[in-house]
Amino acid sequence: MQFNKKDILDMASLSVEEINLILDTADQMKEISTRPIKKVPTLRGKTVILFFYEPSTRTRTSFDIAAKRLSADTHSISASTSSIVKGETLIDTAKNLEAMRPDVIVIRHSSAGAPHLMAQLVDASIINGGDGMHAHPTQALLDMMTVREHKGRIDGLRIAIVGDIAHSRVARSNCIGFTKMGADVMVAGPPTMMPMGIETLGVSVTHDIDEAIRNADVVMMLRIQRERQESFLFPTLREYSITYGLNTKRLKNAKKEVMIMHPGPINRGVEISPEVADGPFSLILDQVTNGVAVRMALLYLVLGGARNADPD
Ligand code: CP
Repeated sequence: MQFNKKDILDMASLSVEEINLILDTADQMKEISTRPIKKVPTLRGKTVILFFYEPSTRTRTSFDIAAKRLSADTHSISASTSSIVKGETLIDTAKNLEAMRPDVIVIRHSSAGAPHLMAQLVDASIINGGDGMHAHPTQALLDMMTVREHKGRIDGLRIAIVGDIAHSRVARSNCIGFTKMGADVMVAGPPTMMPMGIETLGVSVTHDIDEAIRNADVVMMLRIQRERQESFLFPTLREYSITYGLNTKRLKNAKKEVMIMHPGPINRGVEISPEVADGPFSLILDQVTNGVAVRMALLYLVLGGARNADPD
């Protein structure tokens, strides 16, 4: 199958076939990171700009590593060290970056829709590294890769997504992605952190974490996105942790082969206890490892890899 997408903007615009191609390509890419020399020449001569308006550890670093493992050149820009602080607009910034002829721009922005706007303005491929509360498609893809790797499938699995659903772009992208791939998704969280109309994404809703995890094959815990809340939406963190936190006692009621995931960064002792985060059911660091493979696959595919050559 050919991959004809110029940009990766959200999960809604990817078909089941495209998602499967991305995951299959990521499975192949993963092997490259296990070699003594973790580098192939596939994207030699290509330029990738990492344009991050918001903080990031995993997404930014893994895109950088992914591009370098494919021999592309990378350049990082953050809001605080760019001319954005002098008042330059996103549109002007995009036009100036385009003038330097990059092949891919990975953008993270606090405003929903910023990557979509850039995609209309520039010829370079735009990959959304997270925009506001809207979408984080590369996170959803690495989450799907991790589930498929450990469960052998996505179709028919029960996925519980627990926490601050309202402010989470990860939750939104995973709801769309996992339901598209045939999973049965339930979201759980306090009413104050549950967006109106989330059911329209094809998921079921509960405010009871124990109900959500009881029959789940995968439990994905989410951090409270306090940077996006005008005021704290629960009386205290301690009460939040008691009511919605995942701990070993609560986990005893889950399926015995349950998998625990979290996109990171985790707040230990709030939404997840250290014993669970570091415990035998946790796939949190597997997700990070797979983040490199998925981002290698995406760079390869948007730059025409599936039309041109094998990755190695
Ligand atoms: N999961 C995720 O997006 O992490 P970062 O904010 O560290 O990139």
